[in-house]
Amino acid sequence: MNKKTVKDIDLKGKKVFVRCDFNVPMDENKVITDNRRIVAALPTIKYLLENDCKIILASHLGRPKGEFKPEFSLAPVAKEISRLLGKEVTLAKDVIGEDAKTKAENLKAGEIMLLENVRFHKEETDNDAGFAKELASMAEIYVNDAFGAAHRAHASTAGVAEYLPSVSGFLIEKELNFLGNTISNPERPFVAILGGAKVSDKIGVIDSLIEKVDTLMIGGGMAYTFFKAQGYNVGNSLCEPDKVDLALEAMKKAKEKGVKLILPIDTKIGKEFKPDTESKTVAWTEIPDGWEGFDIGEKTIEMFKEELKGAKTVIWNGPVGLFEFEQFAIGTNTVAKVLSELEGATTIIGGGDSAAAVEKAGLASKMTHISTGGGASLEFLEGKKLPGIECLLDK
Ligand code: 3PG
Repeated sequence: MNKKTVKDIDLKGKKVFVRCDFNVPMDENKVITDNRRIVAALPTIKYLLENDCKIILASHLGRPKGEFKPEFSLAPVAKEISRLLGKEVTLAKDVIGEDAKTKAENLKAGEIMLLENVRFHKEETDNDAGFAKELASMAEIYVNDAFGAAHRAHASTAGVAEYLPSVSGFLIEKELNFLGNTISNPERPFVAILGGAKVSDKIGVIDSLIEKVDTLMIGGGMAYTFFKAQGYNVGNSLCEPDKVDLALEAMKKAKEKGVKLILPIDTKIGKEFKPDTESKTVAWTEIPDGWEGFDIGEKTIEMFKEELKGAKTVIWNGPVGLFEFEQFAIGTNTVAKVLSELEGATTIIGGGDSAAAVEKAGLASKMTHISTGGGASLEFLEGKKLPGIECLLDK
C-alpha cells in the first residue's frame, strides 16, 4: 500500500481520532447480531493502546439522516468494544458537543472514548468543512480504519484529513492487501464467482475482473439477465431487460480476453417468493412462465465445483441464490463449502451478502480473507478511487 499506516507515524502518547466502521447489524432489542466489523477494528485499537495513545473512536450506524435518533445510538457498540477489550470504553452523549469535547479533553493515556453516531449531524454526510474541523480539533492525529465506509466522502471519513496528519489503520491496510495486491498479482488459476441480484450493480466489477481472471462464474439473480440476453424466457425471474446489452458486452469481452465465462446450465425455480414455495430444477433454457429462478441447479453446482478444482486464487462476491430461504441456499452453501476446502488457495470473500452467507454456513474461519466492506469492496474492485483512502498521507 502506498499510504502511511499507524506504523509510519510517531503517535506515542498522542490523542488520536480513529474512524471505524461500526455499522453492525442489530436485532430489535439492539443486540449486535454480527460483531465482525468491531473485531476487525481491534488490532489498530490495541496498537494505539500499546503506544499509550488517548483514543477517540468515531463511527456511523445506519442512516439517521442528520438527526439525533436514540435507535441509532452507538451505545451497544461501546459495550461490545469494552467487552472484547476487557476495558472501559466511554460513550460521549454527542459528537462535537460539550460532552464529547470535555471527555476528549480529559482523556488520559490508554483511555478510550467513543463519540455518538457521527450521522446525527447532517454535516457529516455533507462533508462540511466546519464540522470536519470540529472533529479534528479534538485530536492530534487522524487514523482511518473504516474500510466499509471508505467509499464515502464524508466529514469523518475524508474531510477531517484536511486538518490532521492522517494515516490508515491495520484493517484498511489488510483489506487493500487482499483486495488489491492479491488480485493484481494472483497465483493462477484465478477464478472469480459473482452473484447478487443485478447486472447493473456488478457490471463495473465484471468489467474489471475480466481483465484479471482466468475464469469468471456467474450466478444469482443477475444470471437471468444473461439468459434473457441470449433470447431465452426467464419467467418471473429477476431480470433487467434494459441491461441485456451489458450482459452481451461482458460475454464478448470475456471471449476476446480468453476468459472462461461460466453461466448456470440449470436453475432451481419456485412458484412464489416464499420459503416453502413449490420448486423444481429446470435447464436454463426452459424456465416456464409463472415461475421464478431462485438458485443454481445441481448440474451447475457440479460444474462450478469442477471449475474450482485446482484454483489458486478465488474471489467471491454475491450469493448465487436466494440463500435466505433454506431450499434455495444449496448453491450458495456449496460454493462456501467448496471454497473452504480448496487446498493451498487464497480465498477472498467480498463483503456484504456473500460474507453473511459464509458466516451463516459457519465457514468464516476457513476463508483467507472476508472483507468488511460491502459497497466499499465493490467500488474498490471496480478500480474506483476511495475518498477515505485517497485522503491519507502517501508513504
Ligand atoms: C456499509 O454498511 O456498507 C457501510 O457501513 C456504509 O454504509 P452506508 O451505505 O450507509 O454509507
